[in-house]
Amino acid sequence: MTSEPARTGQHRHNHDDPEQWRDAAFVGEWVGKDDGRPQDRVQVMRDALAATGYGGDDALAAMDIGAGYGLFASEVLRAFPNATVTLQDVSEPMFEIARERFADHVSHMRFALCDLGKTAWTSEVGGPFDLAVSSIAIHNLYDESLIARVYKDVYGLLKPGGTFINIDHIGRVGGAEGQTRWLRDAGFDQVECVEIARNLARLSALKAG
Ligand SMILES: C[S@@+](CC[C@H](N)C(=O)[O-])C[C@H]1O[C@@H](n2cnc3c(N)ncnc32)[C@H](O)[C@@H]1O
Repeated sequence: MTSEPARTGQHRHNHDDPEQWRDAAFVGEWVGKDDGRPQDRVQVMRDALAATGYGGDDALAAMDIGAGYGLFASEVLRAFPNATVTLQDVSEPMFEIARERFADHVSHMRFALCDLGKTAWTSEVGGPFDLAVSSIAIHNLYDESLIARVYKDVYGLLKPGGTFINIDHIGRVGGAEGQTRWLRDAGFDQVECVEIARNLARLSALKAG
């Protein structure tokens, strides 16, 4: 599993440039490639959600950070049909695909178009949330101090007792040691890092109640 689309002459992936995700052609190429992957990453999301301990009927307020076309958000709604999920992302083209693909779920979805690189995202995204999830998104920031700050932001957006799950390519920035330290420094308890595959890990963390 990797987050990069095939490199082509036209649509190169610049790791830390959020602008590329605002480009409909780049996004179309990435989503097309993602559709062609074995969807074992869906099972990884399901396992992570099952481990949260929330009940299937819980009316959770959830947020999917760097939600893209809404794959993790849709899995949250599959696991918790009474939830409302805010999809946070910098990419309107991704949101267009999410609205199409998950038209059946859209009444339980909110869309917050904002940039994690800007501190204003915390007021633009709403909240507070019971559950924050993210999948192969936060590493795209490629800046250790920025990711550490985003973790503090997420902590602030969660309700006491809230859970944060981040499935990401942590080897690309911070590694297990750095990532878990940033989560603990943000205030989280019960910080865990489970390696799922080469270069992919599931981070989970709890905001004490
Ligand atoms: C590899 S895609 C993953 C999308 C989705 N989470 C998934 O698992 O299918 C990375 C996502 O992070 C978003 N992203 C990248 N930089 C961002 C930023 N600075 N603020 C918010 N979203 C960002 C991109 O727009 C893109 O949707």
